[in-house]
Amino acid sequence: MIQICNNNKTYAQTDDELREIDSEWCSYGDTIHYDEVPFVYRDCEGSFMYDANDVKYLDLQMWFASCNLGYKNKRVRDAVVDQLDTLPQISSRFLYDYKALLSEKIGKANLKRFNEKGRVQFNVGGSQATEDALKLIRNYTHKNRMFAFFGAYHGRTAGAACMTAGYRYREPFGHFSDEAHFVPYPYCFRCPYGQKCDSCDFFCVKQLRREFEDGCSGLYNPKTKSSAYGAFFVEPVQGSGGYIVPPMGYFKELKKVLDDFGVLFVADEVQMGFYRTGKLWSIEHFGVTPDVITFGKSLTNGLNPLAGMWAKEKLINPSVWPAGRTHSTYCNNPIGMRAGYEVMSIFEENEEKFEKEIAEKGKYFLNGLKYLEKKHKTIGTVDGLGLALRIECTKEDGYTPDADLCHKIQQEGYRGTLKYKGERCGIILNNGSHYKNTLTLVPPVTISYEEIDMAIDLIDQLFTRFSA
Ligand SMILES: Cc1ncc(COP(=O)(O)O)c(C=O)c1O
Repeated sequence: MIQICNNNKTYAQTDDELREIDSEWCSYGDTIHYDEVPFVYRDCEGSFMYDANDVKYLDLQMWFASCNLGYKNKRVRDAVVDQLDTLPQISSRFLYDYKALLSEKIGKANLKRFNEKGRVQFNVGGSQATEDALKLIRNYTHKNRMFAFFGAYHGRTAGAACMTAGYRYREPFGHFSDEAHFVPYPYCFRCPYGQKCDSCDFFCVKQLRREFEDGCSGLYNPKTKSSAYGAFFVEPVQGSGGYIVPPMGYFKELKKVLDDFGVLFVADEVQMGFYRTGKLWSIEHFGVTPDVITFGKSLTNGLNPLAGMWAKEKLINPSVWPAGRTHSTYCNNPIGMRAGYEVMSIFEENEEKFEKEIAEKGKYFLNGLKYLEKKHKTIGTVDGLGLALRIECTKEDGYTPDADLCHKIQQEGYRGTLKYKGERCGIILNNGSHYKNTLTLVPPVTISYEEIDMAIDLIDQLFTRFSA
């Protein structure tokens, strides 16, 4: 049946017809059925998505941080169209221009930032980048055990799920391989050690050092000076864990411990990379040079699956990481490479502008959130780094996590029943965190100040709707 909508666009199926097909033919194993009745949207542009009735939704989720430059970015689109017309397909077995050029661009960007020569290996998605980083570390260190954080999310493929903290991601399947040794994230609002951030003197890092120093803790053999662990997988700002920003000195302290005990440092920038926090990589804020960086998502601004890892030369040079160590049919796909090259070029050409603007817009957004925190008792805390922002939903005591409120607010935003300047609209929010009570705000880095005002107004309406 043809559905003709308010906007005079026609769609071959109504939203309900699509849901019927989905319920009969689609596996429920992905995340669409986190919602009992899937929400359907039909278009996107800039900071907005649109439903079949052309109601617009301010998107503060951006395909889980995959479209940092906003939807339908013209430059990236034109590059992809050009690639479709020139070399749309080529086996990953062969070299072509943009594969080499994108690797060079990322390699030179890191050389400039960290004064480290490295190389790039591509794969299809962020989880596969985690898998490849695991193989790279195991290949180099001959250690199969890794550290990761409580609240970590490094993907859901079999190996990556062992680095992702939540047991729910493994419970139905049993254990795949060597599960990470999970240690507490510097989540200062809810410090797992009951410390206060301004007086703790990095208690959590000292705790880890104590574990290493204890010859019977299982982490280290002082006689052979050998750690049982190859690397620590780190999200410099924890993404799915709730956009938690560690105190600025934290990673320098952690790195000292890892260096002292011979453990490598992997920065997972899949979600926080590509200027989400106002820098190419979020680890840059913390003054630490990682041994490996994994990336994905916004590399192509959502136009084709592509992810990868950069590693220091000593880990990835051809004598230690020769041909065939990893591969996937689509790992070097030309559409993704061309999109990635254009995204990197846009950021490179406007580096100073993005750094300045994202920091300023982030501050402006955070000030708006602080106003809401004062106004609503059910906002426990707000925080952010650049345009990676967070709101913790709590009971009226301002501390007890309220996952139900967080869920309701998110769902209400998807329904498109809010109003801004007299016009019907909605808002797309994501939720995450250790207690499922945190709204993670992921606007495009191109968001305007007017759109930030709109966001604050809509979030205000949502908290007001659900206040007692
Ligand atoms: C930090 C981080 N690492 C890895 C992944 C996995 O990426 P993908 O979903 O592309 O497999 C994600 C996805 O959300 C992520 O946020």
